[in-house]
Amino acid sequence: MKIQQNISLKKYNTFGMDVKASKFISITSISDLQEALKQHEKIFLLSGGSNMLLTKDIQETVLHINCKGIKIIKENKYTVYVKVNAGENWHQFVLWAIKNDFGGIENLSLIPGNVGTSPIQNIGAYGVEVKDTIRTVNAMEIATAKEVSFKNEVCNFGYRNSIFKNQAKGKYIITSVVFKLTKEKHKLKYTYGAIQAELAKNKIKNPSIKDISNAIIKIRQEKLPDPAKIGNSGSFFKNPVVSETIFLKMKAKNENMPFYQVAKDYKIPAGWLIEQCGFKGKRFGDAGVHKNQALVLVNYGNANGNDILNLAKKIRKTVLAKFGISLEMEVNII
Ligand code: EPU
Repeated sequence: MKIQQNISLKKYNTFGMDVKASKFISITSISDLQEALKQHEKIFLLSGGSNMLLTKDIQETVLHINCKGIKIIKENKYTVYVKVNAGENWHQFVLWAIKNDFGGIENLSLIPGNVGTSPIQNIGAYGVEVKDTIRTVNAMEIATAKEVSFKNEVCNFGYRNSIFKNQAKGKYIITSVVFKLTKEKHKLKYTYGAIQAELAKNKIKNPSIKDISNAIIKIRQEKLPDPAKIGNSGSFFKNPVVSETIFLKMKAKNENMPFYQVAKDYKIPAGWLIEQCGFKGKRFGDAGVHKNQALVLVNYGNANGNDILNLAKKIRKTVLAKFGISLEMEVNII
């Protein structure tokens, strides 16, 4: 286990923030992790770095979770259980599943980040959330370096939420995730307008999981900036959920406001709210709001974490003044 000193984290976070880590360890096995926990009291966990905004240097020892491996642990005619180590890249895992014709995660194609962090914010897109396929989350308790397992039912999964953002926050390190995927009779979800349009364009009537994945990759590439080219963290804010009373008031004033109904409440796209406030495509130095999706804040090269954070605060203030809605940040501010 090698300890690197005073290194830049620029290539380890998708916003491309050039902050320093005083100590950095790449963790490639459970025993590495146990040893690192025994030796270092103050740790900072880093995975794919796709859901964090780094605003300062990291004084704690950075543990970069880099354990690889995808293994089928059980299967029958219809389903397969796959154990995936935390350091596997999420999209590479999706492509592996599609190549094997294992269904359930095709709608989550091209989401940045690693497998180990996917349960924390319960990544979701195009009508699917990762919780729908997760059976178990395996983790190590930081205080004891003991291995523990969380069954899906105890993870309290919700919209961009889980136990790992609440009661279990800061107490565990996710080491692997077990997914239950379909081998046949895939439950395809492609009712989203954009997916339907993309399939129709390619004259596909009965799509396979690969067709759906390809359509989503195309849509995401058109709408969302590639973090390898322009620093970003996907959706910076959560879509706010409002009561029917508030929704009806807003709808009366804004006839074209898009929305999704969630049980008795209504989810309003934050991207739409931000666009209405005139921020879409705007640039303030090297910090900006993406031109095709106002929910995504971008680093054009030399913005620092505080430049992005100040822009986010300005957006929140403006949206609050115009619509009376307080946007919640989805990205973790460090
Ligand atoms: N919209 C605007 N202006 C914008 C952006 C969106 O008016 O700048 C409108 C669109 O026209 C559409 C509606 O808002 O009517 C919804 O837009 P979109 O389909 O792009 O989805 P979203 O609600 O903005 C959510 C997720 C995305 C996910 C998409 C597709 C959140 C916070 N974001 O975005 O997730 O890809 O749905 O399912 O829930 C991510 O988390 O990083 C992410 C990209």
